[in-house]
Amino acid sequence: MRFIFAVAASVASLIAIPLTSAHPLLHPTQRSARWMNVDEPCGQIRGLVAKWMADNEIVPKELSGLFELLQPPVPPAPIRPSLAFACLKSIPLYADVARKHVDYLAPLVEWQSTVDYLRDPPKGYLSEGVDLTQGLKDIAAKLQPGKKPKYPNMFEFLTDLHTLLSTRVRDGHVSIRSLLFDLFTFERGVQFVSISDDGLSLPRFYLRDDVKYTADRYVPSPITAVNGVAVLNFFLGLSLQSSGSHDPDARFNTLFPTLSKDANLNHAEPSDIYTLGFEDTTIVEFQNGTILKFDNTAYVRANFSTVSSGTDLYNIYGQGNGTTPSTFATGLYHWADKNWTASHDGFPAPFKATPSESMRTFLLPEAAFEDTAVLAINSFVEAENPNSETGSTMYFRRQVNNITQDFIAAARASNRTKLILDLQGNGGGFTDYLTIVYLHLFPPSDLTKPYNWPIVHQMRAHPQLQWIGTELESRQSKNLSTASPLRALLDLYITPNNTRWSSFQDFLGPVSDSAGNNFTHYSLINVTVNQFDPFPFPPTSVEPPFAPEDIIIVTDGECASACAILTSILTNIHGVKTIALGGRPLNQPMQAIGQVKAGPVNTFRGFVAPDPNNASTPLPPGVTLPLSGKPPIRMPDVLPRASLYLGGANVDYNLGNMFPYDLDKGEIIGDKHLPLQMRYEAAHCKLFFTWEMMREVTAIWKAVKEVAWGGGKCVKGSSTGPDGRIGDKTVTYSKEVEDKYKLGKGPGSLER
Ligand SMILES: *[C@@H]1O[C@H](CO)[C@@H](O)[C@H](O)[C@H]1NC(C)=O
Ligand SMILES: *[C@@H]1O[C@H](CO)[C@@H](O)[C@H](O)[C@H]1NC(C)=O
Ligand SMILES: *[C@@H]1O[C@H](CO)[C@@H](O)[C@H](O)[C@H]1NC(C)=O
Ligand SMILES: *[C@@H]1O[C@H](CO)[C@@H](O)[C@H](O)[C@H]1NC(C)=O
Ligand SMILES: *[C@@H]1O[C@H](CO)[C@@H](O)[C@H](O)[C@H]1NC(C)=O
Ligand SMILES: *[C@@H]1O[C@H](CO)[C@@H](O)[C@H](O)[C@H]1NC(C)=O
Ligand SMILES: *[C@@H]1O[C@H](CO)[C@@H](O)[C@H](O)[C@H]1NC(C)=O
Ligand SMILES: *[C@@H]1O[C@H](CO)[C@@H](O)[C@H](O)[C@H]1NC(C)=O
Ligand SMILES: *[C@@H]1O[C@H](CO)[C@@H](O)[C@H](O)[C@H]1NC(C)=O
Ligand SMILES: *[C@@H]1O[C@H](CO)[C@@H](O)[C@H](O)[C@H]1NC(C)=O
Ligand SMILES: *[C@@H]1O[C@H](CO)[C@@H](O)[C@H](O)[C@H]1NC(C)=O
Repeated sequence: MRFIFAVAASVASLIAIPLTSAHPLLHPTQRSARWMNVDEPCGQIRGLVAKWMADNEIVPKELSGLFELLQPPVPPAPIRPSLAFACLKSIPLYADVARKHVDYLAPLVEWQSTVDYLRDPPKGYLSEGVDLTQGLKDIAAKLQPGKKPKYPNMFEFLTDLHTLLSTRVRDGHVSIRSLLFDLFTFERGVQFVSISDDGLSLPRFYLRDDVKYTADRYVPSPITAVNGVAVLNFFLGLSLQSSGSHDPDARFNTLFPTLSKDANLNHAEPSDIYTLGFEDTTIVEFQNGTILKFDNTAYVRANFSTVSSGTDLYNIYGQGNGTTPSTFATGLYHWADKNWTASHDGFPAPFKATPSESMRTFLLPEAAFEDTAVLAINSFVEAENPNSETGSTMYFRRQVNNITQDFIAAARASNRTKLILDLQGNGGGFTDYLTIVYLHLFPPSDLTKPYNWPIVHQMRAHPQLQWIGTELESRQSKNLSTASPLRALLDLYITPNNTRWSSFQDFLGPVSDSAGNNFTHYSLINVTVNQFDPFPFPPTSVEPPFAPEDIIIVTDGECASACAILTSILTNIHGVKTIALGGRPLNQPMQAIGQVKAGPVNTFRGFVAPDPNNASTPLPPGVTLPLSGKPPIRMPDVLPRASLYLGGANVDYNLGNMFPYDLDKGEIIGDKHLPLQMRYEAAHCKLFFTWEMMREVTAIWKAVKEVAWGGGKCVKGSSTGPDGRIGDKTVTYSKEVEDKYKLGKGPGSLER
């Protein structure tokens, strides 16, 4: 059986219609407009994929069991991006379905924890606000029955939905996608880097390819423009489309690869940055006058063998009730693309690492690291390699525990008193993973007592929750419900005294903020509630192995979810300092956590609300509940086959807002009405990437160590210590850190 992965050379042969060498100043949309009227672009894709498979002798892999769930049978065929967009735009507008879809989503958005804050963002939140409820109304207004719809095709409608519900929300826990957005993934033909000569002076932009030559003192020429746009403006504009980051520097960093991101099996560049228009070529102008042109690629992820038109595509992949196979979630493709093997480029040999190397530990022999240990965790997910004998999913707790424990013991035995915690590119994962690491670093004083994260949570106390909770509680008292969303909530959220809430009403509150928004009572979460097996404790000692001032955290701002929780606890509760890498070329501070600082992520998959027509309390007027059936437009599922449908929509949202909490004093740290997601929290210091840091990850650790304990300097304006050194405090918010680029007007925008 032959199974060939995509070879770059075959991209060119697929570009059937020759590309006229577009002038760099030609605006991308002008160019792609040429492809709008080609005959049945979806049919062309079908032909191109078939030809590509034949030319490359690709035979679909026979997969069974777990493999069938995890691995696509064929590698994705490369095509011209404009052809992919032309195909998507050839799907006619089904205005009735679109309207129903908007109605379907309206009650769901009320569950997103940040809705109230987004409607009126506080100073220090560095993105534009959005009114999600109004946004859906704005979209519905373009689809009024009896009027000419304002959307020329289904894709334009879905794009508006995507901008509203993904880009503007700027929260990686929110996922409200259409399957039509998962049929292709897009890749630029060239990678860029943002490099400072010394880590302190403002960076310039280069081709990543130039990195490898710079070891021999070759001096590459910086880029001046991309696709005819001045280089910095090009990147700032592009980063605005990156949905998962509330922080502009984290958004900016998503555009640039690093060694740590390469080494991370779970790191996927957000492909949605290209969704709203992606050129066929990338034209790069350099200061030395050279202009280079690179072909970009769309990868066909779906099976097009029966797709001849946009209508076919919609019938097969677009409908909520379709029964044909769905495409795989992109994450699974990503693992398969990398063959579940993490890169080691630029990394020294670890002391120990977990099987998929989400955790790598280092006790380096060089004199520079004599007193320093490095714990690099680039993800809190261990990706299971279906090819490996010992799957890691079931055992990851024990593996993570063993490695953390062995690493700490060996660090102490070799007299290493300092710890670098490298969390670059860490997009989060399982809370058990972070809990194990946290408890090893700061063991609870009494291991026999239940342990909690020093963080309290609040949900929105919205009318749907209120009604569902009250209704289910009344049913439960009549023994009418055994498994319910309510039970799951009251198992998860417990009082700050570590007891169960005595009733739903007790949990619900509400607590009102100064603007009159209602939230549930502050709750701890029961971190042990979802465990399959007990945590493999106790740690060897109740003494913290490292003093807080001997720990330094380094991030690239791309720290989300579980990473944000660990970093928030270590900084807000234990006073550990942070260093942020990269970001916009500004002499200003940067936030260490630029992505979602909240959790957990929750889903409507399997969600069943009580029937309001058969309820003890009537549903209040104006309140609608989530429907339990399939959404009118199909959502991509984690499960690869539509036949495995679980009920409800595969829509994810963030359940609770988080606040750092002093467990001993029983007090919220900082403003108790300003959750972490909305707080401005600069890192203690910022450094830019250097050429060396792009070649050797140890160059980053040396620089970090020098700043933390050796009197090294930070980027001007990014720290509070004397002479530009790291200080005990962080720089407070100033207007200078705001994003000068805005998404501007559109459905849901506050700017009307
Ligand atoms: C200009 O700089 C680019 C990027 O470093 C390089 O690839 C190219 O060869 C240079 N051109 C000339 C004429 O030296
Ligand atoms: C695509 O679908 C067709 C028809 O359902 C099937 O025969 C074929 O094996 C599929 N191809 C791949 C690569 O899965
Ligand atoms: C899918 O739903 C559409 C619209 O509700 C309906 O017209 C169509 O018959 C359904 N198809 C199947 C296979 O159930
Ligand atoms: C994928 O990795 C496995 C080992 O985990 C190896 O046996 C196999 O050859 C690799 N496949 C490819 C296509 O590189
Ligand atoms: C963890 O360490 C214990 C004790 O050394 C050992 O028995 C166990 O097999 C290890 N577990 C894993 C998953 O490595
Ligand atoms: C660690 O330090 C102790 C006390 O200073 C010393 O006795 C021991 O030899 C050192 N161990 C190593 C591995 O350097
Ligand atoms: C109600 O549920 C509880 C707990 O599941 C059970 O012990 C009790 O017998 C039930 N009562 C009735 C009347 O079914
Ligand atoms: C927690 O305990 C304190 C002291 O006993 C009590 O005053 C408070 O009401 C309790 N809070 C909750 C939410 O149960
Ligand atoms: C937390 O969860 C554990 C495991 O399910 C359970 O034993 C414990 O009672 C829970 N704590 C509270 C306060 O409900
Ligand atoms: C908040 O809750 C109070 C008390 O239940 C209620 O009167 C008020 O209308 C709610 N506010 C909002 C914005 O829903
Ligand atoms: C109403 O609810 C009761 C109790 O859950 C159930 O037995 C009954 O079948 C329901 N009636 C309808 C019409 O759904």
